[in-house]
Amino acid sequence: MRLKTSSVGTQPRRVKAAFIWPFAIVLIFILGAFVATAYYLEVRVRDRALSERVAAVGKLVDQKLGKDTNLMQAVLRTMMGNPAIETAFANRDRVALMREAGPLFETLRADHRITHLYFNGPDLVNVLRAHSQQEYGDVIDRATTTQARDQGVAVHGLELGPLGTLTLRLVMPWRRSNDVLGYLEIGEEIEYLVQEIRDSLSVDLFVMVDKRFLLPQQWQQGLALLGREGKWDRFDTQVMVAQTTPQVPAALNDSALGSLRGGATEVFEDGNRALHLAMLPLADARGRRIGDLVVMRDITALQGTFQRSVLAVTLLSLLSGAGVLALFYFSLERVEQDYQRQHDLEHQLLRLGTEHKLMLQIEKLSALGTMVGEIAHQLNNPLVGVVNLAQLAAREADDPARTRELLKEIHRAGADCHAFIQSMLRFAKVSSFESRPTPIAQVIEETVLLFCQTESRQLPVETLLPERPVILTVDPILIRHALFNLLINAAQATPDEGAIVIALSPALNPDSGAPGWLLSVSDHGKGIAPDILDKIFLPFFTTRRDGTGLGLPVVQHVALLHHGYVTVSRRPKGGTQFAIWLPQDNKLTPDNPPAQLEHVASNIGR
Ligand SMILES: Nc1ncnc2c1ncn2[C@@H]1O[C@H](COP(=O)(O)OP(=O)(O)OP(=O)(O)O)[C@@H](O)[C@H]1O
Ligand SMILES: [Mg+2]
Repeated sequence: MRLKTSSVGTQPRRVKAAFIWPFAIVLIFILGAFVATAYYLEVRVRDRALSERVAAVGKLVDQKLGKDTNLMQAVLRTMMGNPAIETAFANRDRVALMREAGPLFETLRADHRITHLYFNGPDLVNVLRAHSQQEYGDVIDRATTTQARDQGVAVHGLELGPLGTLTLRLVMPWRRSNDVLGYLEIGEEIEYLVQEIRDSLSVDLFVMVDKRFLLPQQWQQGLALLGREGKWDRFDTQVMVAQTTPQVPAALNDSALGSLRGGATEVFEDGNRALHLAMLPLADARGRRIGDLVVMRDITALQGTFQRSVLAVTLLSLLSGAGVLALFYFSLERVEQDYQRQHDLEHQLLRLGTEHKLMLQIEKLSALGTMVGEIAHQLNNPLVGVVNLAQLAAREADDPARTRELLKEIHRAGADCHAFIQSMLRFAKVSSFESRPTPIAQVIEETVLLFCQTESRQLPVETLLPERPVILTVDPILIRHALFNLLINAAQATPDEGAIVIALSPALNPDSGAPGWLLSVSDHGKGIAPDILDKIFLPFFTTRRDGTGLGLPVVQHVALLHHGYVTVSRRPKGGTQFAIWLPQDNKLTPDNPPAQLEHVASNIGR
């Protein structure tokens, strides 16, 4: 027989390699998502801070315009309440008017940055410009003046002058009784306004005006007059008319203005500064959008904080990711070691199992050797006798009586050989097996009948059978054969007056718990010595002079063919009990062959 061995690979699966890469990828993905989210949130916080600042600028511009308008309104009312100014204005006395209103205007110019003061007649013809006395007599037909005249109420708003100056103007009608005495106009340059906003909010402002409202020559004249610097061609569609810083960043160009006008805000690098730009629309007193107010904030420090916090989050994520990965790596290392140990153990067990099978095989081969030796021995003795007796008969052929006697001996030796070979054949015949549903009580009774006919001493045999019929799927011939062997053994061990008891009782298989039946044969004989108990099932083991030692091996073989087993036990009051356990549901099919003989020895003594 060839030993079947199954091999296990000497290398266990690489647990670490199988898990670490997927885990690392997932971890990188999670950390990447975390860093991206943190970056996105930081950007949002930064952008919100910037747009809040821009909104604050817009609000402050409105507030300042309103506040200055109120102040100018109060100034004009004070003048209108002054009888000396009123008389001078009514008389169109420019000298007296200048004498009365001049000091107040100078104070306003010095302390409140008021730059313009006009006295215009009801026909809008200028009587006096307090800020430029030599100019008068012209018609002032700016939007604020005409609206004040047409609506008869105070009107204020930004006005763009031909020289490119942007002025906040307030025009109030001056009434006396039902007549309109004229119009007072007061104004301040927007340049002062943007300076104040810069001081309040730490932002730089650039006032841009659309070129379509200006003429290049006049604008150039304005620059010279106001002592400002500027280039008409610096931008395509706009010119800068006021600014809080002389340094206009290079990045503030037409495309930047275009995107700012679209509502976007821009962050760009200017040298080592980071600048944030936004734009607010500028409308004049007629409600026309005449240009834009560009708000620029130096966010170098804010950007530095932003970059540092993003870097800190990234570094922290990398560190914690590396930590988690290292932890996971070492855990996997431990798992892999455990796995390796278990694998080695399994390998060792497999090797032991293989060695065990090899030993069983060797044992079987040695049992086969013993069996062959026994057969040779059993046949050799009578054959040697036959040879010797035949030689003797040849020598004493002259004596017919002696020759007959020798021939009888030869016949007996031959008969012994024949009987031995017969029992060998019976043993071999056990291999053929045909099972069918069989009433087991009937098999028992037939066997007992046969036994009683062959047993010369007529020993009493008692049978204890269940009342209801027991049908088992067995080979009745083999069961009869096994039971007969047990009865013969029992009879051989029993003294003259002993009785033999056969019993059939239900019993569970102690190993599997399967239901079955126990067929026992008990005698009152001499019993079995403990030192031979483990040998009695070995083929050719016998303690009887004329025994072959094949009876019990046959019984055991029959039990195994039926998926059963044989037990032997000493009875308390002397004697022996052999029992064959047979399963209730015996499904013997080609896929479910009978058990092997080598498993049987362990059933002894159950
Ligand atoms: N009922 C029993 N009481 C005492 N000893 C027994 C009993 N049955 C078997 N034995 C012992 O077991 C041995 C083996 O029995 P087994 O039936 O295999 O062979 P055998 O009876 O010696 O010879 P064979 O059955 O071939 O004529 C017997 O020689 C005997 O010593
Ligand atoms: Mg026997």
